Amino acid sequence: MSQHNQQPQPIYLKDYQVPAYLIEHTELRFELDEQETLVRATLRVRRNPACTRSKAALELHGHETLELCRLSINGEILSERDFSRNEELLTIPSVPTEFTLECLTRIHPELNTALEGLYKSDGMFCTQCEAEGFRRITFYPDRPDVMSVFRTRVVADRSRYPVLLSNGNPVESGYEDDGRHFVTWEDPFPKPAYLFALVAGDLAVLEDSYTTASGRPVKLQIYADSKDLDKLDHAMLSLKRAMQWDEQVYGREYDLDIYMIVAVDFFNMGAMENKGLNIFNTSCVLASPQTTTDAAFQRVEGVVAHEYFHNWSGNRVTCRDWFQLSLKEGFTVFRDAEFSADMNSRTVKRIEDVSLLRTAQFAEDAGPMAHPVRPESFIEISNFYTLTVYEKGAEVVRMLHTLLGPEQFRRGTDLYFERHDGQAVTTDEFVQAMADVSGRDLTQFKRWYSQAGTPRIQVSDSWDDVAGCYRLTFRQSCPATPGQDEKLPFHMPIAYGLLAADGRELAAGVLELTDAEQSFSFDDLSERPVPSLLRGFSAPVKLSFSYSDEQLLHLLRHDCDGFNRWDAGQRIAVALMQSLMVDYRSGRELRLPESLVDTWRSLLTDASLDPAMVAHLLRLPSEAYLSELADVIDVEAIHEVREFLLKALAQALLPEWSAVYNRSSSEEPYAPDAAACARRSLKNLSLGYLLATGEEVWLTLAEEQFNNADNMTDQQAALALVVHSGFRQAGERLLAEFQAQWQHEALVMNQWFSIQASDPWPGALGRVQRLQEHPLFDARNPNKLRSVVAAFCGQNAVSFHAADGSGYAYLADWIIQLNKQNPQIASRLLTPLTRWKRYPEEVQLLMKAQLARILDSGELSRDVYEVVSKSLV
Ligand code: PHE
Ligand code: ZN
Repeated sequence: MSQHNQQPQPIYLKDYQVPAYLIEHTELRFELDEQETLVRATLRVRRNPACTRSKAALELHGHETLELCRLSINGEILSERDFSRNEELLTIPSVPTEFTLECLTRIHPELNTALEGLYKSDGMFCTQCEAEGFRRITFYPDRPDVMSVFRTRVVADRSRYPVLLSNGNPVESGYEDDGRHFVTWEDPFPKPAYLFALVAGDLAVLEDSYTTASGRPVKLQIYADSKDLDKLDHAMLSLKRAMQWDEQVYGREYDLDIYMIVAVDFFNMGAMENKGLNIFNTSCVLASPQTTTDAAFQRVEGVVAHEYFHNWSGNRVTCRDWFQLSLKEGFTVFRDAEFSADMNSRTVKRIEDVSLLRTAQFAEDAGPMAHPVRPESFIEISNFYTLTVYEKGAEVVRMLHTLLGPEQFRRGTDLYFERHDGQAVTTDEFVQAMADVSGRDLTQFKRWYSQAGTPRIQVSDSWDDVAGCYRLTFRQSCPATPGQDEKLPFHMPIAYGLLAADGRELAAGVLELTDAEQSFSFDDLSERPVPSLLRGFSAPVKLSFSYSDEQLLHLLRHDCDGFNRWDAGQRIAVALMQSLMVDYRSGRELRLPESLVDTWRSLLTDASLDPAMVAHLLRLPSEAYLSELADVIDVEAIHEVREFLLKALAQALLPEWSAVYNRSSSEEPYAPDAAACARRSLKNLSLGYLLATGEEVWLTLAEEQFNNADNMTDQQAALALVVHSGFRQAGERLLAEFQAQWQHEALVMNQWFSIQASDPWPGALGRVQRLQEHPLFDARNPNKLRSVVAAFCGQNAVSFHAADGSGYAYLADWIIQLNKQNPQIASRLLTPLTRWKRYPEEVQLLMKAQLARILDSGELSRDVYEVVSKSLV
């Protein structure tokens, strides 16, 4: 909570100072118990020779909930006069240059609802220390540039907590006199406190092994509740694939004898890369065909890989301070995206990632919390685990990869890992390694780290028929963002191709943009080409070029870049929907152009096309994407136009949809490979169009699919489509059947909740409030809040934005409740309200009123305070 009504203060990157003291060794002893937990920390402390401040005090972070029992230096107990303490810090003004500090602390994991530090999840103890959770466990310099070797003894009741885990290798175990048992763990790699982890519980385990390229055996263990033991194979397979991929692609091997993953039900985020002991949200590790959709299978594969890759990009080389968060996150997201691209379909992976970036990250860039990939200041670091730091950060690394090419990029990462192994560094060091291996000057490129906002690129072309010369002119600019009115030009790669009328490629390559305005000429061309620009989305920008419909159709048909083929289709659909929105608002009848029907028919009937591509090409741009593109968001117009188009395309192409449905149904047993996923995705897309007709025959088909499915992808798609297509009675029936079938599977029931919360049919708010009374709903569990509250506010725009403001008041009520209980979740759920500036004025007033209500609701956590106060500016 904020300190005695003082406003929480920001922390600035420019104020960074090296730590005055280093911790050479950290020994911890945990006595876990139901009513309280005792933590004894023995720290070997040494003055930092790199610190020039003489007589610096020793500062230890300590959350206000820590109960200090005893503090001693070199065995001498300190008295109250020897140190001072406030809500955040314990300060000892005078200490020797080298000493042992011992500290005994009492904490209450059983009361911890914030899920930071040590807490209980379904009867087991677990930890979450990133970014600043370790200070809720004991007094410590809780900053990533203090790296220490840890030895941890975990003591707990034998029967309730048979499994006792921490980082590194187990070195000792046994019994204490009172019937409790213990295990001691040693982690030889120095690490910051945010990578510390501990788990104690009654857990089942899946074991396997992996032999590294240099022949070292590694024991692999995935722990979960015994009822979920049958859902760990996919994660294990993904882990082994990730280990091998990192050896082949980056030359990086695993470094401990054991690698553990633990699945927990209560978790604020997706997963955490604690050294040798990853802790995962169950939603990112459990998978089985019966209970898990294709999308979730892919997510498990991606997240397992992501956390594994952090062992090098994050743990062996870590961040100097939290402003550098993208050093590990941007790089690791890039690594996991490339891994997933190699394991599945590269084009599909790129389409999915860019869709997320263009809807959610671009919206963040356009909102009040916009910040650079390397922020300059923050009030609460938890608020900066954002799409900008993660996804845009990954795009920045991808641009380096594009500019340098794969070989130089690999030499760059080799140099980076070699130079900085065991260190805590900054994004400058990462870029420097790339500059050193390539001999390039990347000074201007670094603006991607310091300037916020989504750059705009206006492209125009001209053609000189006589000389056969084609000319492209690029103008770049970047809108103002909070604290940054003026932007300097970015250095960015623009991958391109020039297509002839017969589809041949006349030229292709990468242009480097560095100036506000820049032209490029292509000589000796036999004809005026159609330009394919920003292939593979080679830079995270909004690029506009006044394409004619014919040109877009040409790209859609012939571009060898799969991403741009898809994007050409998106541009066609977006342009049409935007013009339909104008019609809708002026009360004109909405009409489906015949040309679009023809294009779609040709895509639907061409059985030679890759089903994955077709499924993406024929999916209408989402409401979220259309909102992001709008000047002023008209929620109703967007929704109605999209519904109209869905229905009209369904009617116009009924036989085609039905044929595609039949063609992509398969008798083969379920497999989550790329080809099978693509087939299911196309099948369920066609089912959606068929249901959009509102005809009973297709409802019967959907119900058959629901009843006969051997996998969750098909069953859940049928359920969601029936419910969302307005078949009210059938929807109720299927929801009841689904519940009866799956009530013992928490993750499946989360989907059941979120299908209902995102159902736009009138009366949604009342339905959501009834869902909250459901016995399986638990407001302390973040996954449940995401399935109900976040699904309603984030994926049910028409209901959340109800004209009476009831959706906004509903969200504000939740924020006020969660502010105390779980500030991180409260602050994340708040996002939809912060976007008020994008809506018409009368809507703005309603949204702002709720933000103001939150601000006035009493003492706010730093998390919520930062987001609300910045949003109201
Ligand atoms: N570092 C984690 C990851 O990206 C995310 C995370 C952050 C988890 C903070 C918990 C708390 O892999
Ligand atoms: Zn990460």
